[in-house]
Amino acid sequence: MQKVSTKHLHPGMVLARNIFSTDGILLLSADTVLNSTQIERLQHFNLPSVYIRNPLTDQLTDKDMLDTIPEVVREETRVQAVQVVQTAFQNFSANHRLESQPFKDTAEFLMKEVIENPGAMVHLTDIRTCDGYTFGHSVNVCVLSTLTGIQLGYNRFQLKELSLGALLHDAGKMLIPKEILTKAGPLTVSERKSMEQHPTLGFDLLRRQRDIPLVSAHVAFQHHEKFNGTGYTRGLKGVHIHEYARIVAIADVYDAITSDRPYKEGSLPHQAYEVMLSLANTHFDPIILRTFLNQIAIYPVGSIVRLTTGEIAVVTKVIPGLQTRPALKVIFDASGSKLENGPEIDLAQQLTIFIDKVFTAAEVVKISLGNMYFNQSLRQAQ
Ligand SMILES: [Fe+2]
Repeated sequence: MQKVSTKHLHPGMVLARNIFSTDGILLLSADTVLNSTQIERLQHFNLPSVYIRNPLTDQLTDKDMLDTIPEVVREETRVQAVQVVQTAFQNFSANHRLESQPFKDTAEFLMKEVIENPGAMVHLTDIRTCDGYTFGHSVNVCVLSTLTGIQLGYNRFQLKELSLGALLHDAGKMLIPKEILTKAGPLTVSERKSMEQHPTLGFDLLRRQRDIPLVSAHVAFQHHEKFNGTGYTRGLKGVHIHEYARIVAIADVYDAITSDRPYKEGSLPHQAYEVMLSLANTHFDPIILRTFLNQIAIYPVGSIVRLTTGEIAVVTKVIPGLQTRPALKVIFDASGSKLENGPEIDLAQQLTIFIDKVFTAAEVVKISLGNMYFNQSLRQAQ
């Protein structure tokens, strides 16, 4: 399975996962062999990327394992959560009254599902809906924050406060003018000032809701504070920033870096990992950051990598705490010949072999274009 930008789709590629519209309607189901009309439609919907069956790994004996990458939260749950959040935000825009209950219910069912999957790692974060970045982002930040809270030993009560605060962290953005929110280019000084009001606006909105804990409102208020005191809104520093807000700040930036947008492909997890590490102590609480990064698959299962031996391999297994040393299966030898049943390499055992390069989705598509499997699917589609 491979995440591919809709810009790089070709007829004959086979969808590996369902695609939903933002209101939860199934647009295309897994196993659809894409034709050019469907690809144009996906591009028209502004969907940044989709998951396709990976021709390079299709002939592996453990293909089934690769196709069932464990997820922290089921796809249906994510889609349902995005839908509820979107409707609730739209209702607010229409009648300026915030209904807390849908957010509380969503935070609770996301939290329950995260709790049910102890030890799960984050392989995929994006939700394959059209045009749903803002809502998908809120749901992702909620899932990532809740996972971190569990790792920090939070009890259910604390997790509830944290996940609700995370889900609503950007609630203040509903009160920012649309033209600023959706502006594609850089913001002017006054637009930026207005944008930076969203934590305060969110706090003012949420603290008036009797059934939202004040501490969850503080997450919205403090999520742009930085650990060294250079953030906004109040320039709070270190432990003066509430721990929940320190968690949400990390989840917020990680999801923003790794998400695909119509105008920009997201960073790969190993790139995001390094960016996040470089911000320890300045932007982020280093201890919470370490906890957060421990649950992220730096080389998610299904990644195609080149090794220092010159071989090209696919990641087959990731172990928490050992994410830089995954298990792999070689698919091309060092001379570039495709192997039907290449050797398995466990980097946790083979300490002299390193990952030299991770192929981007576009590069994998390029390599795959000459692959027999892909040509076969192309013929089927015609
Ligand atoms: Fe924000």
